[in-house]
Amino acid sequence: MIPFVDFTREYKSLKKEIDEAIHRVLRRGWFVLGPELENFEKRFAEYCDAPYCVGVNSGTDALYLSLLCAGIGQGDEVIVPVNTALPTAMAVSMSGARPVFVDCDESFLIDSKQIVRRINKKTKAIIAVHLYGQACDMDALKKISRRFRLTLIEDCAQATGAMWKGKKVGSFGDFGCFSFYPTKNIGAYGDGGAIITKSKKNYTKLLAERFYGQKDRQVCSIPGMNSRLDEIQAAVLSVKLKYVDTWNRTRQQLALQYRNLIVNPKIVLPTPQGDSQCVYHLFVVRAPKRDAIMKLLKEHGIQTLIHYRTPLHRHPFYAKQEKNSFPVAERYAREIFSLPMYPYLKKQEIKKIATILNNIT
Ligand SMILES: Cc1ncc(COP(=O)(O)O)c(C=O)c1O
Repeated sequence: MIPFVDFTREYKSLKKEIDEAIHRVLRRGWFVLGPELENFEKRFAEYCDAPYCVGVNSGTDALYLSLLCAGIGQGDEVIVPVNTALPTAMAVSMSGARPVFVDCDESFLIDSKQIVRRINKKTKAIIAVHLYGQACDMDALKKISRRFRLTLIEDCAQATGAMWKGKKVGSFGDFGCFSFYPTKNIGAYGDGGAIITKSKKNYTKLLAERFYGQKDRQVCSIPGMNSRLDEIQAAVLSVKLKYVDTWNRTRQQLALQYRNLIVNPKIVLPTPQGDSQCVYHLFVVRAPKRDAIMKLLKEHGIQTLIHYRTPLHRHPFYAKQEKNSFPVAERYAREIFSLPMYPYLKKQEIKKIATILNNIT
């Protein structure tokens, strides 16, 4: 059996440090908005080359609170790639604004050439999603957002540590939004997320927004919610932050191994853009006979998944709002599947997967 991901392997290798971190929080008896979060926020900001970081409940909240902070809501439109995880668009819907979709290119990322024709007077922001661990073309996206004076939000949920031309994702836009869902390149032992920003004003506003809209635990003058990265998760994440670069390098080596070993032209391998330093959150391949191949792999005990089977505009909720078609994303949604990819995946497991894929005629 080769599972898509096996968290027990990671825990086994970090057990001593993780147990110590969790017990430190339990001994201290301080579980929300305490020293562990403060320490993690400081270190995560440094890691991302950003001055400020705010820990929140999830990646979805990170996006939602960024939109709220930018004053985006009812009557506004936000540009979103149609090939992304549902929460990217759902955060926009939660804000009251409407997600306006754009097709992807052959790297699965938002096709920046198609953005401008979807911009109108109501457009207030672009969400750049660094999907599968790749970095979007941030030169193009920054240029468009500057030209039309749009807020630029980066959805870095799948790309902690990825870079565009040597600069970390999340540090280009007005807000960099991260998810620490367990499968992510740095994952909590539960839900978690963070926002990084260059602006002190936004930082102060976000601190209030995640805490019922209060400033200094006293006065509420803006709307907010309860969205706080808790002390246990922050302590776990501080341990894991030390390893994220090593893990990302391992992911890159595993991706290279897949590339070298899979030699069947029926399986199309991913091609990250040249200027993107991909951290392979996922290893997404394409094949016209996708469903049959996934079935075959399952019969050999190999678990694969699809990211994503339904492009966002085809979900009933969004089909009512978006009548355009997005041919590239629609085609890829029929062909893509994700092979196991996580730092503790073994080389002989990749060999086994490649052998099966190479025997497909
Ligand atoms: C691209 C993307 N954006 C946003 C999210 C939302 O993150 P979370 O699950 O932490 O709310 C995810 C996680 O699945 C994601 O993959």
